[in-house]
Amino acid sequence: MGRGLLDRDGKAYTGARPLLIQGAMKVETSHMVEQLEGVEEYRLGQWYFASGTYKGLPLAIARTQWGLANAAAVTALAMEFFQPVAVINQGTAGAHDPALKNFDIVVGKETVNESAWKSLYRAEGEGIDGRALEKLGVFAYDKEAARFTQEVYHKADEALLAAARSVRDVYTKGRVTEGIIGTADSWNCQVDQVLFLHDFYGSAVEEMEGDAVAQICQTYDIPFLTIRVVSNTVFAGDVDWDLAVGAALQEYVLAVAEAYMRSR
Ligand code: 5AD
Repeated sequence: MGRGLLDRDGKAYTGARPLLIQGAMKVETSHMVEQLEGVEEYRLGQWYFASGTYKGLPLAIARTQWGLANAAAVTALAMEFFQPVAVINQGTAGAHDPALKNFDIVVGKETVNESAWKSLYRAEGEGIDGRALEKLGVFAYDKEAARFTQEVYHKADEALLAAARSVRDVYTKGRVTEGIIGTADSWNCQVDQVLFLHDFYGSAVEEMEGDAVAQICQTYDIPFLTIRVVSNTVFAGDVDWDLAVGAALQEYVLAVAEAYMRSR
């Protein structure tokens, strides 16, 4: 397989088309890499990738680093290098929904870029109103229209969602919920701002990669799902994030990956 794209050291991917799972940081990916058999590691640009099999099923893991630009670049490179059958972007997130607690999982029915807005006009001296926004969306290729089209929300793939639903019970460290995942290169710590975003976009959580990955997956016409675990919530006060959630989520994501690959 592969279209001949080589990694930084001249290495090609020679396995079967994998499911690609992404995480931004080592704590969000290493638990999965450790469970692969026949691990191969690659560098595309400066980004880390690994491949192998999990219970006999081909998986690839990508470490995106933080943020939309990194996530989009890693996704496009992985499309060419691995030709994945589907992509799961996963990792930690901050709660927008006051009901969510650390260790709760949100399976993303949709993603939305929360930095893609146009502010409503105000003249000089009229001040700044962070709520006076109109949703703008981002451009992804639409195969029916045969052009890049502007969309605010990106829907998750139904078969990946079904796989996520089918293994909900394997996760016991928190609740498994479904909702909208909000993506931006920002980290909101003001409760009123978080409540505004929750209301305006309908987002359950915020993170920094999901919608950028959805955009690239739609452009390549490859199934996509984001799964996030709450690692911090402003509704608990001004507290740090809990990175122990990362490994817990990866166990659930591996179960989702297995269910999806077996259902194909
Ligand atoms: N806001 C934004 N991103 C968050 N992340 C975890 N919590 C938050 C939050 N409250 C995720 C992002 C990024 C890194 C900072 O962790 O996706 O990769």
